[in-house]
Amino acid sequence: MARNITIDIDNLNLKGEGTGEYKGNQITVDFGYPGDRVVARLFGRGKAKAETILKPSSYRSSPPCSAFSICGSCRWQGISYKAQLDFKAERIERIFGIKAPVLPSPRIWYYRNRMDYTVGREAIGMRIYRTYYKVAKARRCLLQSEEGNEIIRRSEIFFKNKKLKPYNLRSHEGFLRYIVVREGKFTGDRLVTVVTSEGEFPLEEYYNEIEDISSNVIWAVNAGMSDVSQGEIRKKIGNSYLNEKISNINFKIPAFSFFQTNSYQAENLVDIAVDKAELDGSEVAADLYSGVGTFSFALARKVDKVFGIEEDVEGVKAAEQNAELNDIKNVRFVSTKAEEGMSDLDEIDVALLDPPRAGVHKKLIKALLESQPEKIIYISCNPVTQAEDIKKLKGYKLEEIIPIDMFPHTPHVENIAVLKRI
Ligand SMILES: C[S@@+](CC[C@H](N)C(=O)[O-])C[C@H]1O[C@@H](n2cnc3c(N)ncnc32)[C@H](O)[C@@H]1O
Repeated sequence: MARNITIDIDNLNLKGEGTGEYKGNQITVDFGYPGDRVVARLFGRGKAKAETILKPSSYRSSPPCSAFSICGSCRWQGISYKAQLDFKAERIERIFGIKAPVLPSPRIWYYRNRMDYTVGREAIGMRIYRTYYKVAKARRCLLQSEEGNEIIRRSEIFFKNKKLKPYNLRSHEGFLRYIVVREGKFTGDRLVTVVTSEGEFPLEEYYNEIEDISSNVIWAVNAGMSDVSQGEIRKKIGNSYLNEKISNINFKIPAFSFFQTNSYQAENLVDIAVDKAELDGSEVAADLYSGVGTFSFALARKVDKVFGIEEDVEGVKAAEQNAELNDIKNVRFVSTKAEEGMSDLDEIDVALLDPPRAGVHKKLIKALLESQPEKIIYISCNPVTQAEDIKKLKGYKLEEIIPIDMFPHTPHVENIAVLKRI
């Protein structure tokens, strides 16, 4: 096959990649959008990357980030925000057969409250698209904040001066692995975690470099081979949690616990999900995969009792503290897997589910079918697995879906599904 091909992009696949036909073969074209004619470079079987635009799609708009199409994070920055929302709605329609507009994010730049920057040889930042070892130089990432960018700029200089070496994922040598910056959009609080392999990190000196931006700094060690941005906390200055406020509820979020990454849109997500449950105050609710209590507390204001189930022990401890912090007394948290804990709960009227991308365990589907809550509110960042799970919930009718844009400039879409017992 030729290395460069000229191709018309006529569609997007479910992953949000452009697709077109070339000599009878279906090709996915990264950074190609429907309506484009591009010269694309083939780099694998049926895979190409748009290099030169011969005829631009009418959906295109000029991407403001200088690392666009190098960095893998914002694949849809090349199209207008309206087109992004329309394509997300189209994807939801393909999956569920239901037309539903996608709720736009209140902010489309600087919306993320968490960024996990990889420390690479060339720079600190996001990985280059479709690579595992290389990091893109983005002098000014537009996803988190200028303060986040400044932390990265100063970190690069500090690490260089201290001659601290980045960790190499192939040889498993080197020291610096990740910098995780978390930022409370409604509190102004920040928490910076430097993840390294075994060794000594000069935390006090590092803190001196960034204390005007973040008063909380952690050094954590990931001594294992796996490429994860968390580890054992070895030292800290300030708090080991972030303060954030969503829908008038204060949250303490431990360094490595999950929290919805777009705080601005998280308020809508929580409010809509709870509203759609149409509660009258008498219900018992289960918040499955409850994290630090994001949905539990909003539910607690509207029902008699809430049980939260979450496997992250730190998340559950924080959820308990958060209940106290907000003076919420009708919530109990259990630290276990949702599929194990569900069948031990009292009779429940409403179940709210917010599992990870892989969807729910079949044991949980079974437990839900046995428990028979009147309503199930299923929230997911992966509508494909969500739709598969919903099909298994026999005896429930899908009443409504509300897609929500939590991740502007990416193909990801969050979806709330409202189910009622027939
Ligand atoms: C998408 S997050 C949602 C968290 C929370 N609902 C929120 O909005 O902040 C999924 C959560 O499920 C937890 N988790 C993953 N697998 C689990 C399981 N089998 N049982 C219980 N919790 C699980 C993760 O630790 C994470 O907190």
